[in-house]
Amino acid sequence: MTSSPKCPVLGAPFETIPVDEVDNIDETVALGISLQDKRAQNDKSQGGKLLRGVHAKSHGCVKAEFTIRKDIKEQYQVGLFAHPGRVHEAWIRFSNAAVLREDDLKADDKGVRQNGSRGMAIKVVNVDGEMLSDDDGHCNQDFLMVNTPMFAFANVRDYLRLDRILALDELGADPGPYFLPLKLAALGDPQDDEPTAKSQERSRLKAIMEAIPAFNEFTPADFGGTKTSFDVITTKINPKIVRNPMQVQYFGAAPFLFGPGQAMKFSAAPCVVTEQMPFEEITDDNPSKDYLREALGETMNCSEDVCFDFMIQTRSAEADDLNIEDATTTWPDEENSYVKVAQITIKVPQTPHCDDELAHCEKLAFNPWHSLAAHQPLGGINRLRRKVYFESADHRGGCR
Ligand code: HEM
Repeated sequence: MTSSPKCPVLGAPFETIPVDEVDNIDETVALGISLQDKRAQNDKSQGGKLLRGVHAKSHGCVKAEFTIRKDIKEQYQVGLFAHPGRVHEAWIRFSNAAVLREDDLKADDKGVRQNGSRGMAIKVVNVDGEMLSDDDGHCNQDFLMVNTPMFAFANVRDYLRLDRILALDELGADPGPYFLPLKLAALGDPQDDEPTAKSQERSRLKAIMEAIPAFNEFTPADFGGTKTSFDVITTKINPKIVRNPMQVQYFGAAPFLFGPGQAMKFSAAPCVVTEQMPFEEITDDNPSKDYLREALGETMNCSEDVCFDFMIQTRSAEADDLNIEDATTTWPDEENSYVKVAQITIKVPQTPHCDDELAHCEKLAFNPWHSLAAHQPLGGINRLRRKVYFESADHRGGCR
């Protein structure tokens, strides 16, 4: 099946496209496909099955209603939100962002079980208006989110370097060498009187890096990107406790169009906040490997419907601090500028883990380019996603 979406209107006046971007995107797409193959072959737990290129592990899919708020202000009645009170059917998939279906709290190299990035993807079914991709004719508006307001990689160049590094690993899953430049920098410049062990370690790291082609032409900007990714992972993603995937806030992180001349970021937050308490004791089997799936299953078996507010923040093209080309950034006053524009209701009971539901969940393809033209994805990370998601979904035999 061919998989190119319709040609979008470019996101002027917001975007600045680097000259080498098209080639870098093509290489990332090709690496993504070969990584899917590699994991299917080498990760025994996949049993040869091709999975999503990332967000491989699902906690479950649920059916929902996505209702545009009746009291939505006129200035926000754009695209999907142009019809106050309209109720859309929707599907939501909750996931771990990791590329393998591993333990929800995966042990790091010191054996400490860590939180990872979590995903919530919403598919609002059958919307009206000009669409950016064919989407098997379904006209769905998809919103893909993670549980931090920023993404861990700034741009196409950094993401390509990550994929090149992942490709060195047997399971296509070890990002470790990506951060070697930080380890090297932490040793500081060579000193005459430094201990031999330190200079030996410096030489060892340099030799490893020189043998990895992904580090050819490594620039100071690349070093900055590596440091930012490390900071996002260690200070934003790893500390985020999620006891239940239906109790935490999610963010689109990258920017999107909000009609001509406006950019938006979006987020979904539980209508009632439930504090995510740390686990009293973390052992090898507490919490269990799939505790997020168990929590979702229990919530869907409770007597209360689940409610999320869907919120946006918008900015004019005139603003000069939007950092559209850097997905690791948030906008000024990020915390206080979200406006509620829709409500998501997930009715109970549901049986997300019965065979039919699991098969349906596996087939679904969420894609930021399944979108109204009014909400066109913006910025390098989103331009990269335009090809990647169609290819990943086609390759694993998902819907389009
Ligand atoms: C703002 C940045 C991003 C966010 C918030 C995000 C979020 C998500 C989420 C929530 C999913 C799971 C969808 C589902 O449940 O099926 C997903 C899937 C996926 N993402 Fe991303 N993502 C981002 C950037 C990227 C980038 C830069 C790439 C790679 C170039 C990427 C590649 C993929 C792939 C391949 C899938 C699986 C597609 C499929 O087979 O259906 N994502 N993403």
